Amino acid sequence: MKGVRASVESGYETLTTGGSSVDAVERAVVEMEDTPVFNAGVGSALNLVGETEMDAGIMDGSNLRAGTVAIVTYPKNPIRLARLVMEKTQHVTLAGRPADTFARIMRLEPAEHRTRMRTRMWRQALKETMENPLKRKISTALRQRSSPIHETVGALAVDSSGNLAAATSTGGSLMKLPGRVGDTAIIGAGCYANNRTGAATVTGLGETAMRFLLSKFICDRMASGRSSQRAAEAAMRLLGGSEFVPMGAISIDRHGRIGAAQTSKFMPWAFRTRNMPQAKCMPKAKIIRPSAR
Ligand code: GLY
Repeated sequence: MKGVRASVESGYETLTTGGSSVDAVERAVVEMEDTPVFNAGVGSALNLVGETEMDAGIMDGSNLRAGTVAIVTYPKNPIRLARLVMEKTQHVTLAGRPADTFARIMRLEPAEHRTRMRTRMWRQALKETMENPLKRKISTALRQRSSPIHETVGALAVDSSGNLAAATSTGGSLMKLPGRVGDTAIIGAGCYANNRTGAATVTGLGETAMRFLLSKFICDRMASGRSSQRAAEAAMRLLGGSEFVPMGAISIDRHGRIGAAQTSKFMPWAFRTRNMPQAKCMPKAKIIRPSAR
């Protein structure tokens, strides 16, 4: 909870010192990327071969510009690189080694992202995977292994001009195959922002967020008149049947009204509005039972 609070306070401070909503979400995500307890930046989950490959994305709701990076290994703060893609290139997404080269050219700070805790978790996961009966399909083993860790981070903001922004960052799922790209690098899946409708970001298994384009789904629901809360709940209700995995979503409309819902047991989140003396931290959001499909 401490990390979530610090993230909101730094985003809020950015807004009160003249920053835009894009500045605020970037700052809030940097704070979490720098806090090893989160699965983003320093503290990212390790892939099958024990390496970190990170994804991040950011979107400016005032002009629908967006930037994402996928499977990067170099920058301490992948969200900064995503913003540079948005602002300094003609593109939306850069991936892999060329994206790392772009980070070097832009003089972003590098880091060792692997922490002792993540290495321990990886060793344990590897042991469990190796102990699987040989007849079990490797894809099943990997799916099972990639479910326990989903502390992807995200932030949303609306500034005094009414501009919305969304940002998200992750190390992806533990034991993912090298080269796997998750929802965080896919605009509309991991995050989305549009001043006309709202902004949203999700956490949980990327493959599910991608199949349902969950963040865009939430914004579309807001566009058709649902409140930010109802829109987040509607997204969680989609996740029934065999697709069920623990997920969570936060949303905000252009008036600053906030929504949050989850199918997971645990999703700490926090918020701060103009009239609040400090951030309010919530251990979880409204839990939704997904409808069976
Ligand atoms: N939601 C993060 C990921 O699965 O990559």
